[in-house]
Amino acid sequence: MADSKTNTVKPYTSQGSKKAQVTEMFDNIAPKYDLLNRFLSLGIDTIWRKKAINLLNAEDHKVILDVATGTADVAIEINKQLSPKSIIGMDISSQMVSYGNKKLKKKALDDIIKLEVGDSEQMRYDDNHFDAVTVAFGVRNFGDLNKGLAEMHRVLRPGGKTVILEFSRPRIFPFKQLFNFYFKHVLPRIGNKTSKDDNAYDYLYESVQVFPDYEKFANILEQQGFRSVTWKPLTLGICTIYSGIKQ
Ligand SMILES: C[S@@+](CC[C@H](N)C(=O)[O-])C[C@H]1O[C@@H](n2cnc3c(N)ncnc32)[C@H](O)[C@@H]1O
Repeated sequence: MADSKTNTVKPYTSQGSKKAQVTEMFDNIAPKYDLLNRFLSLGIDTIWRKKAINLLNAEDHKVILDVATGTADVAIEINKQLSPKSIIGMDISSQMVSYGNKKLKKKALDDIIKLEVGDSEQMRYDDNHFDAVTVAFGVRNFGDLNKGLAEMHRVLRPGGKTVILEFSRPRIFPFKQLFNFYFKHVLPRIGNKTSKDDNAYDYLYESVQVFPDYEKFANILEQQGFRSVTWKPLTLGICTIYSGIKQ
């Protein structure tokens, strides 16, 4: 639902806060979130997360925060690739965290990865605490993007790295048109029905259309104080990995 006053897209109604509606939506779709991710992306989403975590390294990044961790896929990938000293996954949806915790228990990772309910715009962590802060498909959902990025910058130590994975809009003809048809018309039908939320996967399409991508998002990272900012489109631009360093 577009809110013309604030130029944002919200899941359910143009009134009320985006944050509350996003939380409600992820609480609703949590039971089917992983299944739909794998099915609707044909499993490519796991490759995207792997590539994002490839930008971190075990030597420099030992204490890591995964913001908007959802069901902990990024946190699990971080553990697999880097075996760091500590991984915290934080998310505003208690249901997503609950499904994440079930997954960690099944994989016997619940001692290594700690999940917490929290808000990216008001984190409880100390300044300069983490070596790396990651977010996959989360920043687009923040109620206040600048506040969330400022908090990520605050909790990173100087020299620490952020890696952000987010949907972008393909630009190459005819892939752009084909993908757009799938993303706007096919995916929401399957996603809404399976998740039993009539809006969630329309919101996915609409929120991607208004979210700054490529150089625009890289500029926002620079405005928030990140340096050596990079961006790399994946799968013809369906999503993009961004990174930046806190000086
Ligand atoms: C599309 S999911 C991504 C989950 C996971 N990172 C992944 O790669 O599958 C977006 C997540 O962002 C979380 N989120 C949205 N706004 C948030 C906020 N302000 N603070 C923390 N988490 C937030 C949602 O609850 C949801 O779990």
